[in-house]
Amino acid sequence: MNFALVLAAGSGTRMNNEQPKQFLMVNNKPLFYYSVESFNRNKDIDAIVIVTNNEYIEQVQNWCIEYNLCKVKSVVKGGQTRQESVYNGLQELSKIVDNLKDLVLIHDSARPLVTQRIINENISMGKEFGAADTVIHATDTIIKSKNEKTIDEILNRSELYQTQTPQTFEFGIIKNAHERAKIDNIPDVTDDCKLVLHYGKDVHFVMGDKFSFKVTTPEDLEILKMIIKPNDDK
Ligand code: CTP
Ligand code: MG
Repeated sequence: MNFALVLAAGSGTRMNNEQPKQFLMVNNKPLFYYSVESFNRNKDIDAIVIVTNNEYIEQVQNWCIEYNLCKVKSVVKGGQTRQESVYNGLQELSKIVDNLKDLVLIHDSARPLVTQRIINENISMGKEFGAADTVIHATDTIIKSKNEKTIDEILNRSELYQTQTPQTFEFGIIKNAHERAKIDNIPDVTDDCKLVLHYGKDVHFVMGDKFSFKVTTPEDLEILKMIIKPNDDK
């Protein structure tokens, strides 16, 4: 079985808006709807768990009913950090996952334009290797600076990628990594692959898509609104 864990519990500080960005309306639907709908539509996804802000749980449940997102099995409280939100989601998933080899696709609800191809390739790569990430080639040259004033190093662009989501793991691998991180006091890791790598497991990757960007700032929201036009039935 394949499960999606959709993260919608952040506060969106870089969006500079009181309401968390995942609930901003885009073409009359809350932003989180778009990625959940893509997982709901994928024939190889069996069930979806959403983690969200405590005060939005009921509203998210109502939206899922209104938009007929029938694979959503539960909506639970996230945490203070992304890592805690993932941990809470994995705890909830352990009630419905019955095989440690089942796959969990962990996805940022702030990436509304994830494609069916990306989801399908995550599933096949996850099945083959147990851990998969979604990446795109870095197109700009990336520099490193510690003092925020001068360049320490210009990195070799051909070896650099930017990560996206979903990130896909066998349930046993990701649950184990998160539980060990708790014991080892590893605090806020914003990337699940980093944890899995830290505990010595190779992570293979699939190619993402520039359109599957993370809506982070007001400019990103403007770009998204230009892509999802009024009356698109997406
Ligand atoms: N997320 C979450 N729980 C948190 C923090 C983040 O579920 N405690 C989710 C966000 O809702 C988002 C995804 O993780 O879909 C990626 O995080 P990010 O883009 O950093 O979102 P925010 O943390 O909400 O934004 P910011 O960092 O600007 O505050
Ligand atoms: Mg954040």
